[in-house]
Amino acid sequence: MISIIGSGRVGTSAAFDILRFRISDVVLVDVVENLAKGEALDMMQAAPAIEFDGKVVGTSDFSQIAGSDVVVLVAGGGRKPGMNRLDLMNENAKVVRSSVREVVRYAPDCKLMVVTNPVDIMTYVAYKESGFERNRVFGMGNILDAMRFRSYIAMELDVSREDVRALVIGEHGDSMVPLVEYASVTGIPITELLTKDQISRIIDQTRTSGADVIKLKGATTHAPGVVIAVMVDAVLRGRNRVMSVSTYLQGEYGFSDVSIGVPVVLGRNGVEKILQLKLKPDTHKQLEKSVSTTKDSIKLLQT
Ligand code: LAC
Repeated sequence: MISIIGSGRVGTSAAFDILRFRISDVVLVDVVENLAKGEALDMMQAAPAIEFDGKVVGTSDFSQIAGSDVVVLVAGGGRKPGMNRLDLMNENAKVVRSSVREVVRYAPDCKLMVVTNPVDIMTYVAYKESGFERNRVFGMGNILDAMRFRSYIAMELDVSREDVRALVIGEHGDSMVPLVEYASVTGIPITELLTKDQISRIIDQTRTSGADVIKLKGATTHAPGVVIAVMVDAVLRGRNRVMSVSTYLQGEYGFSDVSIGVPVVLGRNGVEKILQLKLKPDTHKQLEKSVSTTKDSIKLLQT
């Protein structure tokens, strides 16, 4: 069973995708009880059309998350136009800490996926607050950036998005590091298909893609929602998917005591393995900058 804490746009988009892909039953939790209940009822009424015969429950009672395999933590404020993810930090850290205490109480054996922004810092907060082994606490960030990176590459080349593979590492934020050297179209390096200018434009588009949507409609919804469903599927079905998630480093890539996006194998136990790629010196320098930006913000966390 999956529990989603936070029944706003992203949480409910993820919930409906989890039902539509028939991945699992869902418990939707929100402090605004009628919001969670209303969303769940709305989805139940759609069930016949999506051939979903499971359960979706809305509640403000955290004890309903008992027995969850995966708890997705989305609760917290979202960015307003012009805000960056760090502006949300201390407000959302309070929400994350209180939610994690409930998760530890009612679902102590779950895998905890953090979406609340700034997600790398919130993953760090959740990991520290939970006392869980680090493989069970991870954040949804760079896989979303990678999906956007893939979309823009596919659009530029007018090829199927399915055939584009790419990785993004580092902060789920302005200092993210799209890995050009590992981006390909069915194995063909994008450097053989796109000019340097095209690649640099696509990287810029990827970096601002979340903010671009927020400027137009006030919040991102569908892209983060479906990515959460993909990650939940990888864990619940033990699919050992390779993707970049925010995870607590203990020396990997030369960094410690920080949660940041790195390529991992995501499966039944959460982060099954951290993959240490050979990075070009310049790429490692970009990752280093991303880590130090994140560490600087962690220092500003109010305890
Ligand atoms: C985004 C949010 C989830 O990038 O950070 O859409």
